[in-house]
Amino acid sequence: MTGRMQIPAAFAAGPLVYLCMPDLGNSFHFQFTDTAMFQTIERRPPDPILGLSAAYKNDTNPNKVDLGVGVYKDEAGNCPVMKAVKTAENKLWQIEDSKSYIAQAGPELFLKHSLDLLLGNDHVAVKDKRAATVLAPGGSGALRVAAEFVARSYPGTRIFVSDPTWANHIPLLGSAGLKLELYPYYDYAAHNIKFDQMMDKLKQAGKGDLVLLHGCCHNPCGADLGKDMWNAVAEAALKQGFTPFIDLAYQGLGDGLVEDVYGLRLLASKLPEVIVASSYSKNFGLYRERTGAVLIVAETAAAAEASGSQVIGTAREMYSVPPAHGAALVGMILDDAGLRGEWDAELTEMRDRINGLRAKLVAKLKAKGVNRDFSFIQNEKGMFSFLGLTPEQVKKLIGEYSIYLVGSSRINVAGINNANLDYLVNAIAAVL
Ligand code: LMR
Repeated sequence: MTGRMQIPAAFAAGPLVYLCMPDLGNSFHFQFTDTAMFQTIERRPPDPILGLSAAYKNDTNPNKVDLGVGVYKDEAGNCPVMKAVKTAENKLWQIEDSKSYIAQAGPELFLKHSLDLLLGNDHVAVKDKRAATVLAPGGSGALRVAAEFVARSYPGTRIFVSDPTWANHIPLLGSAGLKLELYPYYDYAAHNIKFDQMMDKLKQAGKGDLVLLHGCCHNPCGADLGKDMWNAVAEAALKQGFTPFIDLAYQGLGDGLVEDVYGLRLLASKLPEVIVASSYSKNFGLYRERTGAVLIVAETAAAAEASGSQVIGTAREMYSVPPAHGAALVGMILDDAGLRGEWDAELTEMRDRINGLRAKLVAKLKAKGVNRDFSFIQNEKGMFSFLGLTPEQVKKLIGEYSIYLVGSSRINVAGINNANLDYLVNAIAAVL
């Protein structure tokens, strides 16, 4: 159809729909019907996390501070393209000779190095070929396609998720068809993990159930399972038969690339089955390139291969094939000793900076004489911690100080810098 769409002003006025009808000229007529499909659609409120970016952007306060969405920021407040990524992009631009589809599972180099980063080539599941890796559009894409795969294979599957968890876990996993159950996790008063209560609740999880675990840098609370706790989870899973589903979005931003997969590697060595959704958004700064991976560890090589093929088939039904750019960069960087070293060093810098900011924030709040112990922030890992403020206090921080944070009082520590630290500390002291 060629032609110019002439949209009358009345289009937005009433509960009627226009039918687009070609006429003899070079335009369309519209005919009203009373069966409007979209007239009863309600507007969604802004996303509780992503919506903060737009609000921050529109705020004209020169002192505004963005502690909302979980993206890494440098001292200047920018979310930079990592140096190794820039170099790899340059190289890729020169050598890429086609934009045809990539393999459904993803590029070989990406898959090989993802598996090594997650489990390590010496891992028993890798040696036994019981691990299948598939490229996915970001960590969220990986979570979703893995959840869809399980829900379609076993309708009615339950997934136990931590309370609290990343706000988007609930709709993302629920609308994939999994039945959600919460397990107690963070003690807001004591600022630690309610491990006994967690394990007590997980006694209800058995064969055919999934248990979602944050591999490291828990989002939103920053409180990670210690080694003993991971061991206890592994024991429980072995005894009761549930399958861990690990969301690994921050590998390298907690204690280190290897340290941050302690739990994953342990579970994958002790248990017959583990699912992982990993992300390269944060540790490669590839947020907009949507680069992540699904890893399925199965009891046998044949089951891993079959499960991988089902993840690929599920993806084909959902979004067909994965995006190529980010995966090509990750593969190139991890395959080149020089680039890999440069990336590792920058990631270490990022991790150290976040940990340094945690210490500085705690020290400044103490020096300010704030009548509350914030030392827990220093013990937590990754980008996030709760400030432990009420919704009213959060509203004040946003409304009166233009300090943007999630309603739960979750802050992105990486959004703090030397220029805004005093302003932030004074504002927290004031609202308290
Ligand atoms: C966050 O939690 O802020 C990030 O994971 C970004 C997002 O998509 O919510």
